[in-house]
Amino acid sequence: MKKIDRETVQKILDTADIVEVVSDFVSLKRRGANYIGLCPFHNERTPSFSVSKAKGICKCFSCGKGGSPVNFLMELEQMTYQEALRYLAKKYNIEIQEHEESEQERKIASEREGMLGVNEFALKYFNNNLFNTDAGKEIGLTYFRHRGISDAMIERFKLGYALESPTALSEKALAEGYQEEYLVRTGLCSKNERGSLYDRFRGRVIYPVHSVSGKVVAFGGRTLSTDKKTAKYINSPESLIYSKSKELYGLYQAKQSISKKDRCILVEGYMDVISMVQSGVENVVASSGTSLTDGQVRLIHRFTDNVTVIYDSDAAGIKASLRGIDLLLAEGLNVHVLLLPDGDDPDSFAQSHTPDEVEEYLKANQVDFIQFKTDILLKESASDPVARAKVVDSILQSVSVIPNEVTRAFYIDLCSRELKVDAQILRRRLAKLVADGSYKRNLRAGVTPLPQTESGTRNEPISNDENGPAINETAVPIADEVVRERNRALILRPYEEVLIKLILRYGLYPFCDDMNGNPLRVLEYVRQEFSSDGIVFSSADYRRCYEAACELADTTWSEDRKAYELRLPAEREKMLCEGREYIAENGKSVGQIKQMESELSDYIENTMAEAMNKFDARYLFSVLSSGPDDELRKMCTDMVADRYQLSKIHTKFTKVETESERLVDLLPRAVYELKYHILNLEMEDLGKRISQEGKAGDFEAIKPLLQELMERQKLKAEFARYLGERILQPDKLPKMR
Ligand code: CTP
Ligand code: MN
Repeated sequence: MKKIDRETVQKILDTADIVEVVSDFVSLKRRGANYIGLCPFHNERTPSFSVSKAKGICKCFSCGKGGSPVNFLMELEQMTYQEALRYLAKKYNIEIQEHEESEQERKIASEREGMLGVNEFALKYFNNNLFNTDAGKEIGLTYFRHRGISDAMIERFKLGYALESPTALSEKALAEGYQEEYLVRTGLCSKNERGSLYDRFRGRVIYPVHSVSGKVVAFGGRTLSTDKKTAKYINSPESLIYSKSKELYGLYQAKQSISKKDRCILVEGYMDVISMVQSGVENVVASSGTSLTDGQVRLIHRFTDNVTVIYDSDAAGIKASLRGIDLLLAEGLNVHVLLLPDGDDPDSFAQSHTPDEVEEYLKANQVDFIQFKTDILLKESASDPVARAKVVDSILQSVSVIPNEVTRAFYIDLCSRELKVDAQILRRRLAKLVADGSYKRNLRAGVTPLPQTESGTRNEPISNDENGPAINETAVPIADEVVRERNRALILRPYEEVLIKLILRYGLYPFCDDMNGNPLRVLEYVRQEFSSDGIVFSSADYRRCYEAACELADTTWSEDRKAYELRLPAEREKMLCEGREYIAENGKSVGQIKQMESELSDYIENTMAEAMNKFDARYLFSVLSSGPDDELRKMCTDMVADRYQLSKIHTKFTKVETESERLVDLLPRAVYELKYHILNLEMEDLGKRISQEGKAGDFEAIKPLLQELMERQKLKAEFARYLGERILQPDKLPKMR
């Protein structure tokens, strides 16, 4: 396949003007520094779609969609990355230079293709077993028939059966020339100690998982045995082609119907999807038994604004999934909930009713989510005032993540009526939650509060891998470790966010000189500080963003910068000509002309330097916010579209400087605030270990720990003093280790 050259991509990104691109689809009006119009991603009467020419992005403040020109096109027109680039090139008459894929690109592409090829083979193989082998017919097909699944559904979802033999698939695959490497990397097979292959799926019915575009990325295998010790489901592992949190079962088959009906129905399991579809409800997808993730929610939002979540009437399941629903709200989706009659799940309900009855039940019984949540929580808390206050808080939390202000106001009225609490009080509390925003941020980042003792359902974020060997003894400490890491991420996230924002905003901008008088750039500074103290971002999404930024700085930046620089002389020449003309017309004396010429040349040099600075500052953002990676694009837009707010400490000093001038102060401060809190956590840990050893009576072990604690304490005092000072000198910064 041909790929567009990087230089061309950069040229396209440099040229594309967000206002012009959006104007082809939305009529925009100027308002202050920005433009606004009606959001093309959802129906609205008052404009909340804002376009910033300066930042080069658009964003709907109601539904949250938007991004760079490339992102805008991809979302609105369902274009692929390459298609969006080609569209822009055409719009701006940019000649496309393309190339056959490089070795590296080909390698990754061929790995993907190799893995997808093996999966495609396995899909056909499993499916064929069902109809053309004795065991397949007797066991697999009989099972599906037993559960009332028609052949049409088996075909639509490409269901299959894995034979009991441990090498049935691997032998066939190898014989047909598929490579062992891909069989292993997709998880279809594993290697034992003797180096021979064996199959992951044995004696199970198979549900293939398709990506949105229809590629087979994974399989789920259900056991037919009723033995409690056998794992009910075995699933493909995460891989280059499969990230569980980014796929939804059934979406490929459902997407057209979702668009057409403008609604997505969300259920839990494979069988729920299939039975619903069989009864004529085609717009159904499953989260496959885990809590929803931000990625899955965005996937749904590509096709509709409306979601109905179907629940069995089992109360534990409902409570555990309430948070997942807040994610849907935060994405700006309208959420309804449908409760099934006692004892039914979507599968059994669909199987035991006619398609008309199912349709009718859906229509008649779905209720608004906030209303639903209020109802069930109220029922539980009855007249206990303390429990009731908690209910109010929990509901306000859900309301607080809704992006649209009018919708929030509507719910406040509703809650005030239902909860019998004064609306004014609710409004005040809500305003606080909205302003704080931490619940929403954590929700998005997938940081859930520690598991409650009562939970213990599938939605438990920490789970043993059902594919692994039985139970291992280290399971408990590992869980502890995970919980600790998650707490750490939760505490450090706000400080990491400030840094990521600065990195995305100012990228490679030379914000000051280092000790040798060389320009020190924002990202470089953070990297130096991080690597000298061994710091990494604790939130996974920030870490990924940071790593992508570093990679750009190390690879493409300097070349793209040179290419950009080469385009400047023409600009300079033009300014020079115009300036000289002006001087020729207006200069009155030799002295004045000399003066004007020197001013002109200063002016031009400054303008050129500024252009380079701007390029450096915007480089990371412009590439990442227009790149092929969904998650990074979204993060970039969110981080830069936010009205930028730094901690109060910074805003206290009212001397008017631009933010870029204040970077000398802001950036080291942001780094040190993070370090300060890391230090705090380390001290807490040390404290805990000391008290543990103390209880165990091991005083020898305590000594070095105490020593360490004291050193940290000194350092902390130093940090605190440093953070208390206003003007910072990078060369006087304390070191952590
Ligand atoms: N699931 C999983 N691994 C498990 C249990 C469940 O991946 N160990 C996922 C599967 O996607 C499954 C969904 O969670 O479809 C719901 O689980 P469950 O209700 O237990 O299974 P059902 O799909 O209802 O299966 P069945 O009706 O065949 O019992
Ligand atoms: Mn079921």
